[in-house]
Amino acid sequence: MAKKAPHRLYLTEEQIPTAWYNLRADMKEKPEPMLNPATGKPVSEEDLYPVFCKELAHQEMDNDTQYIEIPPEVLEMYKNYRPSPLCRAYNLEKALDTPAKIYYKFEGNNTSGSHKLNSAIPQAYYAKKQGLNGVTTETGAGQWGTALAEACCYFGLPLEVFMVKASYNQKPFRKAIMQTFGASVVASPSNTTNAGRAILADNPDNPGSLGCAISEAVERAVSGDNVKYVLGSVLNQVLLHQSIVGLESAKAMELLDEYPDVVVRQAAG
Ligand SMILES: Cc1ncc(COP(=O)(O)O)c(C=O)c1O
Repeated sequence: MAKKAPHRLYLTEEQIPTAWYNLRADMKEKPEPMLNPATGKPVSEEDLYPVFCKELAHQEMDNDTQYIEIPPEVLEMYKNYRPSPLCRAYNLEKALDTPAKIYYKFEGNNTSGSHKLNSAIPQAYYAKKQGLNGVTTETGAGQWGTALAEACCYFGLPLEVFMVKASYNQKPFRKAIMQTFGASVVASPSNTTNAGRAILADNPDNPGSLGCAISEAVERAVSGDNVKYVLGSVLNQVLLHQSIVGLESAKAMELLDEYPDVVVRQAAG
């Protein structure tokens, strides 16, 4: 009889991938380029420098390098919570009464509570390496802000988080976790930026939105003193950093002597 797959399969520390996989290198049809809102033309790497730190701007534009080495300092921090387990959803299979074997990669078992740490760590690392005075970001529910706060704390990098005001008021404990990691957390819209002041002038009770918090964080970065903006979803670089989830899963599948017919991933970064 075939050996029953374990409920949770852990790779060893040595089996953690040492390079991220850049999916775009293998895409026959490359994604449409990002447009510079000022010119309507495709952005260059240099166009991104006012907003992002250099290495991350480079990764953002890199359509060609298939594997990008994970810096040893990042790998070291990854080891605090990686590899993450590949779990077999035996109970779900039973509940669905399906012959399918369902596996899922569990990314929640780290202090920040989500997969967002996978990109927060390299983003904080490259910003610190460039000698920035700090980074800014936005957070909605708070997972990204928490992950980034943890990563910035680890690398000794100041962080200012614009947190959607409705969430800021609903989730005081999220805010407290970020503050415990040393981040400064501002309810957005705030009166500390032009974008925030304009929104508050229109409606002082505006509960905020991700768009508004992004505007405030970007404004602070571009007008700040050697401060850049970082973002936990949407970007190519985030997809690159999150490839560690798929790379570990592929290795675990190999050990199980399985090959997936279908792979599903969540949409958000
Ligand atoms: C651009 C952007 N910023 C912030 C968030 C909110 O993340 P969180 O709920 O972890 O704060 C998201 C969610 O996907 C997002 O796409």
